[in-house]
Amino acid sequence: MDQLKRQAAARALDEVRDGMQLGLGTGSTAKHFVELLGERVAAGLKVIGVPTSEATRADAERCGVKLTTLDEIDHLDITVDGADEIDPELNLIKGGGGALLREKIVAAASDRMIVIADDTKWVPMLGKFPLPVEVIPFGLGATRRAIEKAFAECGVSGQMAVRKAKDGHVFVTDGGHWIVDAQLGRIADPASLAKALSAIPGVVEHGLFIGLASSAVLAGGEGIRVIERRKPKGD
Ligand code: 5RP
Repeated sequence: MDQLKRQAAARALDEVRDGMQLGLGTGSTAKHFVELLGERVAAGLKVIGVPTSEATRADAERCGVKLTTLDEIDHLDITVDGADEIDPELNLIKGGGGALLREKIVAAASDRMIVIADDTKWVPMLGKFPLPVEVIPFGLGATRRAIEKAFAECGVSGQMAVRKAKDGHVFVTDGGHWIVDAQLGRIADPASLAKALSAIPGVVEHGLFIGLASSAVLAGGEGIRVIERRKPKGD
C-alpha cells in the first residue's frame, strides 16, 4: 500500500515545474510527495511550499523544501494532498489526519488541487469513512445538536464521537479545535450537507471537499489512473 501511495505521489510530481508555488498536503501519501519533492529540490528544482500542518512543515524542512505562507504570496499553482475518500465527481472526505481546516484553506487558494491516493480510497458514494467535523470546544453540546439537525435535514444519521489522540486525551487540531467524527455510512448529497454544516456557528470546518479537487491520481495493482474533473473549480 505504501508503495502505491509513493507511486501516486511520483505521478503528481510530474506536474510540478520550476518556479511553482505549491500547497503541501498532510498524511502518509502527502508525506511521500514532500519527500520526492525534496529529492528534486536537492537536484536543483526551485519551488516554494505552504504546508497544511505542523507535521508537514517539519517534513518539508527536513527534506529541504523552502516554505512560505499565504500572507506572503497571493496564490498557489498546485496543491498536492491525500484524501480519505474520493467519489466519481472528485468530491472528497478529508481530515483523517486532522488537518482539514488548513488543507481546505490551502486547496481553495490553489489554481489546481491534485489528490493522490491508493485506489482503495475511490468510492461510488462518500460516507463509509467517518466524516470529520472540526468544532470549537465551547458549547459543544449545542453544536452537536445542531449537527444532528443538519444531518436529519440532509437525510443522513449516525453515531458521533469526539476524536481521541493515541494517548487517550482529546485530539486537538493545529488550530486548537476538536474533531467530531460522524459515522454516516452513505452521503447521497454531499454538497447540501457541506452547506448545512458550514452554517453552524460552532463548526469551524468539515471534511467534505466539494468542487476543490481538479484531478485524482489513483495508484492500484493495475497501474496508475488519472481522473480529471470536468466541471470548473468551485462548481
Ligand atoms: C489529513 C488528510 C489526509 O490527506 C487523509 O487522511 C489521507 O491520509 P493518508 O494519505 O495517510 O491515507 O485529510 O487531514
